[in-house]
Amino acid sequence: MSQTILQVDDLRTSFNVKRSGRKYRVQAVDGVSLSLVAGEVLGIVGESGCGKTTVGRSIVRLVKPDSGLIQFRGADVIGASGQALRDMRLNLRMVFQDPYASLNPRRSIGDSVAEAGDINKVFKSRADRAARIAETLSAVGLNPSFATRYPHELSGGQRQRAGIARAILPAPAVIIADEPVSALDVSVQAQVLNLMMDLREQLGLSMLFISHDIGVIGQISDRVAVMYMGRVVELADTRGILDRALHPYTQALMAAVPKPDPSQRIVGAVETGEPPSQFKRPTGCAYAARCPLVHSRCHAEVPALKPVAEGLRLAACHAL
Ligand SMILES: Nc1ncnc2c1ncn2[C@@H]1O[C@H](COP(=O)(O)OP(=O)(O)OP(=O)(O)O)[C@@H](O)[C@H]1O
Ligand SMILES: [Mg+2]
Repeated sequence: MSQTILQVDDLRTSFNVKRSGRKYRVQAVDGVSLSLVAGEVLGIVGESGCGKTTVGRSIVRLVKPDSGLIQFRGADVIGASGQALRDMRLNLRMVFQDPYASLNPRRSIGDSVAEAGDINKVFKSRADRAARIAETLSAVGLNPSFATRYPHELSGGQRQRAGIARAILPAPAVIIADEPVSALDVSVQAQVLNLMMDLREQLGLSMLFISHDIGVIGQISDRVAVMYMGRVVELADTRGILDRALHPYTQALMAAVPKPDPSQRIVGAVETGEPPSQFKRPTGCAYAARCPLVHSRCHAEVPALKPVAEGLRLAACHAL
């Protein structure tokens, strides 16, 4: 039986922004529903600004959603406090694109890796703390002697390994990895991706894996959610997305991926015209202005995410 570990229902998160002296509200996430089954990797893909990071940050409570429900093992995340919040802070852990964002330059790697354990008083003694740091550094392929080093002494790949160590030290259930390899040299990307796949096996992690790169998503994910302007427009198992994308936007994403040599890197940019402005959301389907299948209903009515293809997958498109 597959067990849902993380459930997101109708999540909405917005920001106030100022542009040329005027105030706007940007609806970064506009009604996202997802669920993560224990042990699976769910990829979230979509072009820059579609709200991927905001979904992740909402789940780990780095931003406060306007509305919606987030549940970890059936318990409310958004309103959690006390012991329940502590439990979530140890179990829902984020890996950032830029390890500098999670590693304080003035703290040793060991202190950064141990931080969540220190705050939540999980170590039994100083010796236990040192042992846990050493064990965690080894698990990510770093020599335990790295504990006394500082971020600037590490290479990009080593820093991201330390960022991953920081996330896994408290033995979390869920990792939210936000573009964890995008900032790395191409040669290092595959190593870090392999490490994440190994850790997932060894530690039984569930993962939300965020990337604009469908090639990377295809390697690591069991299922994929495709986001466009704050919404999920297609959700299916990874093979389904790679072999037969149904939503016109997913098809455009796939068309932008150069195919032949699988060892070649994949470009993330999507050459499908300009997305509509975040400040003026169209009524109806947000993809209508770029969509080859557009018809009159698309301008009038937002398509709901609904079962398609014999109910095996979900897509939000009036043409399907
Ligand atoms: N802290 C913030 N303040 C104001 N606006 C924000 C903030 N964070 C995100 N946004 C806006 O919300 C929208 C979604 O941003 P988000 O970072 O979630 O997208 P993304 O899909 O992660 O993009 P990328 O691929 O570039 O990382 C964008 O329009 C962005 O400018
Ligand atoms: Mg992002």
